[in-house]
Amino acid sequence: MTAPASVVAIIAAPLPAWKSPTPPPQASLQKRATTLIPDTCFSSTETFESYFSYNYPWGDTHNGAALMSEAQVSIIHNAYLQLESVYTGPQSDDSSLSYNSGTVYAKQQFTVEADGGLAPDFQANFVAPVAQGTWPAFWLTGVDSWPPEIDLAEWKGTGKISFNTFNTSSEVSALDVTYPSPTTAWRTILVELRAEADGSTVKASFYMDGTLVTTQYGANMVGAPFYLIIDYQMLGSSGSTGPTETTYFDVQYLSVVSYNP
Ligand SMILES: *[C@@H]1O[C@H](CO)[C@@H](O)[C@H](O)[C@H]1NC(C)=O
Repeated sequence: MTAPASVVAIIAAPLPAWKSPTPPPQASLQKRATTLIPDTCFSSTETFESYFSYNYPWGDTHNGAALMSEAQVSIIHNAYLQLESVYTGPQSDDSSLSYNSGTVYAKQQFTVEADGGLAPDFQANFVAPVAQGTWPAFWLTGVDSWPPEIDLAEWKGTGKISFNTFNTSSEVSALDVTYPSPTTAWRTILVELRAEADGSTVKASFYMDGTLVTTQYGANMVGAPFYLIIDYQMLGSSGSTGPTETTYFDVQYLSVVSYNP
């Protein structure tokens, strides 16, 4: 297992005047950070539920074959989030659904701001299935409209991990790279979102295990609120057949920290 993400929030809040009448001279050199979701968010079901809600913001289905429910979501060993997908065969209420699975979304919405405002880093460790028909994803989608969408990490049943930024449904930056040891190793994904100087473009820098993999640019994303979704969808973009055995998507040490430039 990978060591805990060493995300340290240095809050440059001024000390009370009675403690420190003059600020320390090095204060202006410190990187300011605001923790929006701490990496302890999966340390108990209660803590998890204080940061996340079950299903999608819009309901219990999306664009695949899974019916989402709270029953498929667990906090394991007070340490990590597990989404469990169970094959059901075509379901009686809706035959396009053939799995019960789990999806959760952050109660907070996230907006990249210009001029020294919020500039969030999204980080987590994953054990993600890449078998055909499994479609786990860690993604941002617009609250007010679609697009914008940024797929911080997505696995579409090919053995690869995908990083994608949507300007429109057809104008998409997309990169697939090999995803080593999918079912046995925790891999750390970090995506930094920053406002560009034009005040509307978001720069997204995608890292895997500490190495920059790609940088993408999203149009008109500054000031647009996003939902953060941890999603274990099935079939859809991952193919028309999938596993009949139970499969899992595990997420550990998730954090969202905003750094001000
Ligand atoms: C999306 O828009 C940004 C900002 O205008 C641009 O830099 C980027 O190249 C666009 N992406 C694609 C795939 O055209």
